Formats: sequence, structure tokens, C-alpha cells
Amino acid sequence: MTKYINVSVAWPYSNGDLHVGHLAGAYIPADIFARYHRLKGNQVLMVSGSDSHGTPISVEADKRGISPRSVFEHYHRRFLLTQQKIGISYDLFTHTDTENHHQIAQDIFSKLLAQGYLYKDKQQLLYSEREKRFLPDRYVEGKCYICGYEGARGDQCDNCGNLMDATQLINPHNRFDPTDKLIVRESEHYFLDLTKVSGKLVDYLENNRDRWRPSVLNFTLNMIKQGVEEGLRGRAYTRDLDWGVSVPLTGWEGKRIYVWFEAVNGYFTASVEWAKNQGDPDAWKQWWYNPAAETYYFIGKDNIPFHTQIWPAQLIGIEQLYEDDPAKRLNLPYDVPANQFMNIEGKQFSKSRNWAIWVPDILERYQADAIRYYVTATLPETSDSDFTWDGFLSRVNNELVAAWGNLVNRIVGFAYKRFEGAVPHYDALSPADQALITQSETAFDTIGDLLERVRLRDALTEAMNLVRESNAYLSEREPWKTIKTDPAEAARTVYTVLRVIDNLKILLAPFLPFSAQKLHEYLGYDGQLFGEQRIVEYQEATRSHEALIYDPTHAIGRWEKSALPPGQKLREPQPLYVKLEPEIVAQERGYLGAERDEHPIEI
Ligand code: MF3
Ligand code: ZN
Repeated sequence: MTKYINVSVAWPYSNGDLHVGHLAGAYIPADIFARYHRLKGNQVLMVSGSDSHGTPISVEADKRGISPRSVFEHYHRRFLLTQQKIGISYDLFTHTDTENHHQIAQDIFSKLLAQGYLYKDKQQLLYSEREKRFLPDRYVEGKCYICGYEGARGDQCDNCGNLMDATQLINPHNRFDPTDKLIVRESEHYFLDLTKVSGKLVDYLENNRDRWRPSVLNFTLNMIKQGVEEGLRGRAYTRDLDWGVSVPLTGWEGKRIYVWFEAVNGYFTASVEWAKNQGDPDAWKQWWYNPAAETYYFIGKDNIPFHTQIWPAQLIGIEQLYEDDPAKRLNLPYDVPANQFMNIEGKQFSKSRNWAIWVPDILERYQADAIRYYVTATLPETSDSDFTWDGFLSRVNNELVAAWGNLVNRIVGFAYKRFEGAVPHYDALSPADQALITQSETAFDTIGDLLERVRLRDALTEAMNLVRESNAYLSEREPWKTIKTDPAEAARTVYTVLRVIDNLKILLAPFLPFSAQKLHEYLGYDGQLFGEQRIVEYQEATRSHEALIYDPTHAIGRWEKSALPPGQKLREPQPLYVKLEPEIVAQERGYLGAERDEHPIEI
């Protein structure tokens, strides 16, 4: 049965380039998952976009003396190019400054207000005497009132992950100017009434206990429990800002909807935009109203509260939009497989110290599939992991180049040269041949099952085990020797291993889509395993925007075992992967913490 799978991916703040933390936290896992489900024949809708609002953008704009819009447009463009190049196959990667997004985020606000989920209250906020304004959350720093961490920010504590209001910080001060005198002033805001949803949220989370990662589930339950114990009534939905989505009420012109509350709406607004762009404006409903559809949110752990509490609370509150059929309810997250952090050479990512590995930069030096391979092999699924250049060198060279790439080259190259450029005919397979083929066929179930449960690292390990066994089989059978003494035996072996790598091509395709396509062609097939990624421009009433899309029209790949026909003409293979030189380790380490030049991205 065809399933409807929505792959919702965290929206990157468009204030700087993508780094490997983005890839490991969300994008590569999401892409593997989406590609797998597409191969399975399921209906996948994968959406995200640039998060163009919020103080991270304004801080960058202030620093450069340009407008927030210029900042976000610059990086949005780079996000499109970078993600096309590394193959993150969004059906739509848009941004939050579209008319569509503004409109729907406002509709959601209005609906929550009408349904009684918002209340108005006066809030004590930090006002800067010097800047003559309420200081936006990330301009404020102080000590976390929950865990005591000194560098907590006015929106969230990075140490314990809890949401903060700037006034809850101990010793709050202006991050950019410690001498700035902050005074507490009153301001009126709307709040999302959490007391109205906490019970429902807890029930919903308990119902997902078997599926969710325990770390994500327990963190969320504790957070809700703590809020209830502290008598926390709600979270501010609006802010004193001028960059963002306006509050759709008269008298509220100086305020905006809080960036996190509208950014999470993006999963829905982008689905609607995708449907409009398809010329089928109702198409999003298959993923949002169909109770059998499954929505997966791929995010890093710092984003958990917004996806497991705030967004579900909004969804519970609005129930539905633009419908009057009470049976139609917007789907709550089916799973939020949040990842931990990926450190770099033992230290935490830092933009300001340039302790970072920038994706557009490494794409100039390494193959997309090599980067994808190493990131997947070290995904921080259960605990923080570490990107090291030593690790990159050895895993790419030993596993991708020496094990998988070499297996492909040995066998396809040999068949091409010694069997007249075609898949050999054989009389009958030996039990050992048959056993290896069967093993590679059952892998569709075992690996598929791991992928469906979002255990991507384990899924890759399984596939690589099969690569290792196939290499061992080939070395033991030595068809390059038997071809002289027993050509029928050589033909059987070569056919067997070709058939197995044809299976591995699909088993590895979600992880390594570019090289899977090449192998597909070496094996003599035509057509594209996956659809095509394109950057397109969409025109709305007053603005246009660029987006990255995935066009599945010509995709023929299927999560199905090979039926490689003897006699099929092969194409002369080239090495799938580039072997890395040991010098890269020192060279790459040298870039860490040094000054960086942001080059244009070439495709
Ligand atoms: N922009 C946020 C970040 O980069 C993530 C937003 S995810 C969203 O951390 F769902 F809220 F959009
Ligand atoms: Zn804390």
C-alpha cells in the first residue's frame, strides 16, 4: 500500500553558510529517509526553507550594516546551490519571507485567537536605554535559571535546551554591549496558552512512546511537567520587533509574530506552496489531513521544544484551516527523530571562532557522496559525535574507495574486459552463489526496516557488511584465475557478484545517490534512479522567490531486487570515488579557526 510520508526538515537561519552540523543534524538523515521512501514507491513530500526572520538575521545585518532582507537573500541563494550540489532532494526548499508563508502564519494566529488558545498579557521585558528599544531575545545573555549555565540566551539555554524568556535569566545583559543599561519595561503581548494543551500533549506523547527516541520523548515530557509545576501559563507569541511576520490586528503594527512560532508553521505553509506550484492547490491535504499519513521532523536537539511542544500545541489548537469538515484534523508529528550534535575535531561548532566545516567549501574539494558517506557513518543519532579529518580520510579511503568502489571496479572492469563488454551468461549457479545473492536480496528487508525506523547509521553498516562479504567472495573465487581453467565457473562468479552489486546499488542509493547513478549506467541500464533537482523562480503577487525543487517525473529507481539479465551490455567503468591524500588532514585542520573567505559557489 502506498504510504504518504511527509519529510519535514529544520529551516536553517539564513545568516551564514551551511556547515556539517546542519548536514548531520537534519539534512542528510532527512534526504536518506526521503530517497528510501521514494524508492519504495511511497508518496513523499519533503519540505523546508530558509528561516529568514529572527534575531540571528538581524544581528548579522547589524554587524554588516545592511538590511535583514539582504542578509537572508544572500544566504538563501547559497543554500539552494549548496543543497543541490550535495543532493538534498527537497520537493520544495523555499523561505519564510514569501507572501504565502506570511499569510498562512497570520491565519494560524487568527485561528488560535478565535479558538481561545491565545491570551493577552502584560509582560516585563528588557529595554535598552541606549538603543531605545526592547532588546530582542538573542541580544540578551545571562545565567540559566534552570541549569546555571552562564552563556544562556534570551530565547533558549544551549546547555540544557530549555526555552527561556530573557527576564528569567540571572544577570541579563546586552551581549554586544555589556555597559548598556537594561531596564525592565512593560509591553503587551499575546501568549500561547499551554495550560489548554498540556494534557492533550502528554497523551499524544505517551501514545508515541514506542516509536520516538527516548531522549526526545523524555526531554519533552519533563519540560511539560516542569512547566506545569512552575505554574507556567504560556509562551509569548508576539515580540517587539520590526523584522518578521506582522500581527494581523490593528494597533499591533510595531510587533511581530515570534520567529519560532511562525517558522515551525513553515512545514505546513511550504506544503501548501508546493501544492500551488504543482497547479493542484489541494494536493497538500494528502499529507496533512489523511490520518494514515506520517510526518517526520528531522531536526537537531536544540530545536526539540519547538517541534515537540510548540508546533504540536499550535496544531492541536487550530485543529484545521480552511475546512469545515470536523473530521479533518491537521496531523501531529508522527516522529521527531532529533539528532545530537556533531563536534569538529573534539570541539563544539562556533561560527564566531570559525570552528566549522563549511559545506560549500568542502564541496569544492571532495565528492558529494564522500561527504555524505562520512557524515552518515558518524551521525550523532544517539550521542554527540565527532567529525575528524583523520576519520574522514580513513573511512573514505578504506570503506568507500577500497571496499565499495574497488569491488565495483574489479567486477565491472573484469566483466567488461573479459566477457565482451556484457553481463556473462551462465549455466547454473552454485549453492554458494545462490546464497550470496539471497543474502543481498533479504537485505532489502533488513535495511529497509532500519531505514523506516530512522536508524540510518545501522542501515549503512548493514549495507557495508554486505560489501565486505562480496569482496571476500570475489577474492576467494578468483575468477581472473578460473577464467583460464574453468570459464563456466568464472562466468557464474562474475554474474553472481554483478547481480549482488546491482542490489547494493539500490541498497546504497539513499546514502550515495550520485555514485549509485553512475553504477547504474556502468551496469548497462538507462534512465535516472532519482528525479531531478532544479532551482526555479516563483512569482507571487508582489514578489518572486527562488526555490529548490525535486522533479520525480523521470525517476525509475525501485527498492526491489535485481533481475540483471545476462547479455546486457555494460559500459566501461571509471573509478567511482577519488582516493584522498593523507596531506588533506593537516591542510583541512589548518582552516579550522582561521579566517575564512566566502567564495562564490560554482555548480
Ligand atoms: N532556524 C532554526 C535554526 O537554525 C531552526 C528552525 S526550524 C523551524 O536553529 F522549524 F522552526 F523552522
Ligand atoms: Zn540551562
